[in-house]
Amino acid sequence: MTLVRFFKADGTLDREVEAKAGKRLLDVAWAAKQPLEGACEGVMACSTCHVIVDADDFARLPRASEEEEDMLDLAAHATRHSRLACQIILSNELESLAVRIPPTARNWLRG
Ligand code: FES
Repeated sequence: MTLVRFFKADGTLDREVEAKAGKRLLDVAWAAKQPLEGACEGVMACSTCHVIVDADDFARLPRASEEEEDMLDLAAHATRHSRLACQIILSNELESLAVRIPPTARNWLRG
């Protein structure tokens, strides 16, 4: 299991959840009722699963693909620590991963 900490846009801790290694961060975020739409469900045709990763944790992630970098160019409020939650696979190396939800994130599809 891997601990994931979700922070609100203002930086306050919203929720901590335990998730199985091998799960996508997007699926964990949905289960934790985080406002990430993920409209394309992971085929990288949107950027609505954009999260801002804690700076230290960002260095622990595998590099983003060129395709992911291209989609992040379209994300609102992107920073140099932005990633797509659909592309992050949890592992034991990512224990205590901290991510912040961008201020304009909404989950129109899942209420
Ligand atoms: S869900 Fe569309 S790019 Fe991640």
